[in-house]
Amino acid sequence: PTAQIGVTGLAVMGSNLARNFARHGHTVALHNRTFAKTKALMEEHGHEGNFVPAESAAEFVAALQRPRRLVIMVKAGAPTDAVIEEFAPLLEEGDVIIDGGNAHFDDTRRREKSLRERGLHFVGTGISGGEEGALNGPSIMPGGSAESYKSLGPLLEDISAKVDGVPCCTHIGPDGAGHFVKMVHNGIEYADMQLIAESYDLLRRALGMTPGEIAEVFRTWNGGRLESYLIEITAEVLGHTDAVTGKPFVDVVQDQAEQKGTGRWTVQTALDLGVPVSGIAEAVFARSLSGHADLRDASQGLPGPSGEKLTGAAAERFADDVEQALYASKIVAYAQGIHQIEAGSQEYGWDIDPGAVAKIWRGGCIIRARFLNRITEAYAKDRKPVTLLTDDHFAQALGAAQDAWRRVVATSVELGVPAPGFSAALAYYDALRSERLPAALVQGQRDFFGAHTYRRVDREGSFHTMWGADRDERTA
Ligand code: 6PG
Repeated sequence: PTAQIGVTGLAVMGSNLARNFARHGHTVALHNRTFAKTKALMEEHGHEGNFVPAESAAEFVAALQRPRRLVIMVKAGAPTDAVIEEFAPLLEEGDVIIDGGNAHFDDTRRREKSLRERGLHFVGTGISGGEEGALNGPSIMPGGSAESYKSLGPLLEDISAKVDGVPCCTHIGPDGAGHFVKMVHNGIEYADMQLIAESYDLLRRALGMTPGEIAEVFRTWNGGRLESYLIEITAEVLGHTDAVTGKPFVDVVQDQAEQKGTGRWTVQTALDLGVPVSGIAEAVFARSLSGHADLRDASQGLPGPSGEKLTGAAAERFADDVEQALYASKIVAYAQGIHQIEAGSQEYGWDIDPGAVAKIWRGGCIIRARFLNRITEAYAKDRKPVTLLTDDHFAQALGAAQDAWRRVVATSVELGVPAPGFSAALAYYDALRSERLPAALVQGQRDFFGAHTYRRVDREGSFHTMWGADRDERTA
């Protein structure tokens, strides 16, 4: 056998990963359910490196050096299980199956456990960066055993994106850790996208700017602390003109956002873990709301404010205010995502280092951004911040941005332009900094109608007030 790695499932992500391995000098075995795709890949890109096209599963496995490393790039869910079942019987102890799709981490935990019992390594790995990233260097988030990383890690690091020469790939932790982190990455991706979309909407509706003008604003922002892939492509999308109508592209696209589900998983999991990812949740809900055409149609006649635009000094400073609100809200989204990673790590015993995660997100992935360096620095300190918000750099940035942030949220409310991402992020910030929360009242209500008991600020124990009788307080 000559191949160091194999890829089965040669749709665009699989093909591009295979080509990436080959371009880095590795011999890559290729397999696909239908051989036609394998042949097509060979015809088009066979010259880029050393490939071993295999027609059957047995041929594919036979082409791999031991320990065999085979990457599965098929649809998440049942197709992944089917492919695992096809190959597992052909493998031998110590071989490594890698699932590079967007699997749910629960599935990954289940698959890892069952394959471990059969003597095989199973590595669920997050891969971010879309088609282009898969070919030229993605951010890679592998889970699975530390032992599997020894043989697999160097190959993955080889093909990953590099920032300052450092690979955007690290062993995240056992079993489902990699797919969990990829899931949260996508939750943050949703939040980032929503916050950017709200920024655009506010600039357009509060100032009357055109998409082309707003593209310029994003281009300017991309030269500063907001520098990131998503800001960069936003400028491209907003600057694009539809060839058919000559209108701004963004005006001819249906305003109903779709999702394949990883953002939704982030929120579902956060609810189970008890982590308040309100900013990420609002981003998921905003996509969901946009898709309810019936509700939106029915609501067209509901009254709103007069729709006047900002003028004078308020208009002058508004774009700068939005930049600050965007930066502050982005910090909140990452703080929430990191909280979720820490909670998941705790729950499943993964021992994930958030700083290392931020480091491999600096390049290759969809949320790559200049400010991730700051997050890495925050978690490299001896005393890890309890929340990203209180790290010196971010606390200062939030403090400096908060007046502008409040003005933006207030403006959105006054003009009737929805900004759920900005509002939720600001509410999270204000809730965390509040000395007292009205949760005390909620506890009182719960005790009143359900005798659910409460704790006191001044004494240990649980208490119940006899609300219906003499209002005596009893120890519960
Ligand atoms: C990535 C992306 C990718 C994601 C889709 C969009 O990191 O490369 O997160 O994995 O699945 O690009 O997902 P939605 O369809 O849910 O928006």
